[in-house]
Parts: sequence; structure tokens; C-alpha cells
Amino acid sequence: MKTAGAPQLVTKPGKELHGSATLPGDKSISHRAALFAALAEGESIVENFLVSGVTHAMLGALSALGVQWKLEGTTLTVDGQGLHGLSAPSQPLDCSNSATTLRILVGALAAAGIPAILTGSPGLRRRPMKRIVSPLREMGVPIVAAEGGTAPLILESRPIDRPLQPLVFYLPVASAQVKTCLLLAALAAGGPTTLYEPGPSRDHTERMLNAMGVPVIHRPQPAPNRTYETILTPPSPLSLTPLNLTIPGDISAAAFLIVAALTTPGSEITMLGMGLNPTRTGLLDALIQMGADLQIKDQRQLHGEPVGDLTVRYSRLHGTQVSGALVVRMIDEFPAFAIAAAHAQGQTVIREAEELRHKESDRIAVLCTGLRALGVEAHELQDGFIISGNGIPGGAVVDPHSDHRLAMALSVAGLAAEKPVTVLEADIVTESFPEFIPTLCSLGANVAVKGNSEL
Ligand code: S3P
Repeated sequence: MKTAGAPQLVTKPGKELHGSATLPGDKSISHRAALFAALAEGESIVENFLVSGVTHAMLGALSALGVQWKLEGTTLTVDGQGLHGLSAPSQPLDCSNSATTLRILVGALAAAGIPAILTGSPGLRRRPMKRIVSPLREMGVPIVAAEGGTAPLILESRPIDRPLQPLVFYLPVASAQVKTCLLLAALAAGGPTTLYEPGPSRDHTERMLNAMGVPVIHRPQPAPNRTYETILTPPSPLSLTPLNLTIPGDISAAAFLIVAALTTPGSEITMLGMGLNPTRTGLLDALIQMGADLQIKDQRQLHGEPVGDLTVRYSRLHGTQVSGALVVRMIDEFPAFAIAAAHAQGQTVIREAEELRHKESDRIAVLCTGLRALGVEAHELQDGFIISGNGIPGGAVVDPHSDHRLAMALSVAGLAAEKPVTVLEADIVTESFPEFIPTLCSLGANVAVKGNSEL
């Protein structure tokens, strides 16, 4: 919400970026770790947990379900009482602005047979939920959405001695949130559930459930199908082993720092302990296609997830094309990527990315409007956009439409623009990257907050 005196983020060009940065814990893995730990039997300890607006939504919902947890710095301890240890909430569960919280929580509650109403911010209540409601109903879950297929969602109680129907389901759009929701519900099914996706959505759920003793197979299907198959077989008796893990640095948060260094002449920075799960590294591939100088060192495994240190040097970029599986592997990175494209020589064309219209904002429309306000030639397509790169004139105030990733991308635009850039709603960055401004400042960037802020 843009109120008078609300903080604004002002970025100015002219400073090189140098040094190394640690990253907040990965948002997707943090959400899963908190929820799955609550479903496990025993105490889980999760280090480098992302402490932010969206994960507070998940933790708040878990409290409302009777789960005991404790946060000390970024160490989360959860006292899991098993799937059937959750209790029915006395109030609607407020998932705030977090679609991940809402969608994956619904899957767990469906498996537990617990009645609940799930709702959230006006933005969350506009996002599509039919994609989970229809397949859940097919499994026999008593759930209804509001008119228009959106939240609030109403789940009724279900006798837990009657298993859900095992499902064979083709997701029309690749989505890890939908996949996770259905896999969690499938824990309570009377046999294996098989899902097919048209693209390689992030596989953190599969990795984590396997580590907790639930057999999940995840494999790409050969041509001509080229779908991605996931099969979950519910263990009998149903029991999840507690977690003891350290969460990798979030590549989706690093994306803004990567693009800042790539586009600011003279810069060289290193991101330490960054997640390198191949279902998440599409941005790196797209930037390498554009001529980016990226170097990964010390690649290693961290509790089942690949991580490494990434060094990024200022590079002269050229335009490229992005579509298909690459879109899925960088679905959250288009706001940052668009800033790199605006600096690249020639056109960058993004297609088959209509899903971007259903994120925290309509990211195709909001990005193109923001870029045009900064003097960049950006053309909207129904399923993507075209950017004619030639640098960023800047010198404008831009509106991120309450979208944390838009706020961070548009502010990064100001670091290598001709004139400063002011972004409204500075506070929104705390949804996913509370340390965004101090981290940029520590690397030498000229970033400041104007107005009343807790940043
Ligand atoms: C997420 C999956 C993606 C992503 C979101 C986090 C997850 O959404 O955009 O930020 O943690 O599973 P979709 O599953 O809707 O593509």
C-alpha cells in the first residue's frame, strides 16, 4: 500500500560493487522445512532458516495448528508431533501474501483431515487456486474455493481412517507449489500418486521427503512425451523422520546482487554458499547465453542440495531468447533478468512465460510499465515480453505494485542507470530478503531509504 510518507528506496549510479556476500536461507526450502518438520515425529533443527515476512506467515499458521517452534537468530527448532498431531485452528489461517504457505499447507491439512479456512492478503486472494482445488477434490478432499476459484479456501474435516484416492494427474502448468500440495495430500492416499508436469519445476519437496523416509521418485520422461514424472508411495505406517539441516543461500535473492554486479562497470562480487539446485539455476544459464562472466567454485552438497560460491564480474551482455524449460527453471528471476536485458546489446525475447501474470503481481505488465518509466524500450506480449537493450536512462519514480521482487529489481536498475531511481514501497523487500539494503551497501552500492522505515 502506498501511503503518504511511506518509505522509498533510492539507488544512485556511479559506485563499483566489490566483496563477498552471504545470503538469506532459500525461501522455498525454508517453507518446506518448517511445515515438513511439523509433520515429522520428533524435534527438527533447521539452520539458516529465512526469517522474513513470508516465512512468518507459515510459522504463524503452524502456531495456529498447535505446533510448538522456536526461532533463535536463523535457527528454527520445531517440535513435530506427526501428521495427526496437528489440531484444528479456531480462526481462519492468515497466509498473508504467501502463496507457498497457503498452497502447501492445504496439502498437509488435506492429508491430516483437519477442517480449516485458509485466506490471506487481497493480493493472495486474487491468485489462482483452482489448480489445487480440482485435483484435491478428485482425491476425495472436501474443499471449496471462493467464486472465481480463489482463496478463501474452505476445507472440511475428513475421517482419517478412510484413505484418499491415489491420483494420476497432469499439471497443465509446471508448478512446485501445486506438486507439493498434491504430494502432501498423497501421504494419506491408499496407494501411489503419480504427477506429470510439462516442465522441470523445483524439486526441493522430493529431496526433503526422501530424506525424511518417504519414497518419492522424480524423473524426466524421454521424448516424445518430455514430461516430468513424480511418484510418491505413502509409507506404512505413515511416519516422517525429523530434519537436521542447513538451508542453502537463496539463489532467487542472489539474483538481484548478480545482476547488480554484472551491469555495474568495474564490479566483482562473490556469493557464498548459494543454492545450485539445477531446477533453480535457469538464470545463470540465461546470463551465460548473454555473455556473462560467472564462475562457480567449491561446489558441494549441503544436506541433499547442491551449493557453491559464485563470482560475478561486470560483463558486456548481448540479447538472447528464453522459452520452454528455461522459463520454469528461472520462474522467479524475470524481474532481475529484465534489468540485465535492459543493459544488453540488442533484443531479449521471453516467450512461453504467461505464468508470470499470476505471481505477486502481473509481472509481465508491471515489469514493462516500470522499465518504460525508466526510459527502456519494453514491449508486452501475452506470454512474455521483448526488451530492446540500450542501457537505462533512469531518473524516475517507479511503482513495484506490492511485489517484493519488482521492488528489488527496479532498485537494482538505478545502480547502473544514467540517473537515480526511486522505488515506492521500500518495506516490501522484507517479504523475502530483509537484508537486501544492508547487503547491497556492504558491497559498496549507493542505496538509501527515504521516509519512515524499519529497514
Ligand atoms: C515456489 C514455486 C514457484 C515460485 C514461488 C515458490 C515454491 O511457484 O514462483 O516463489 O516454493 O514451490 P509456482 O509453483 O506457482 O510456479
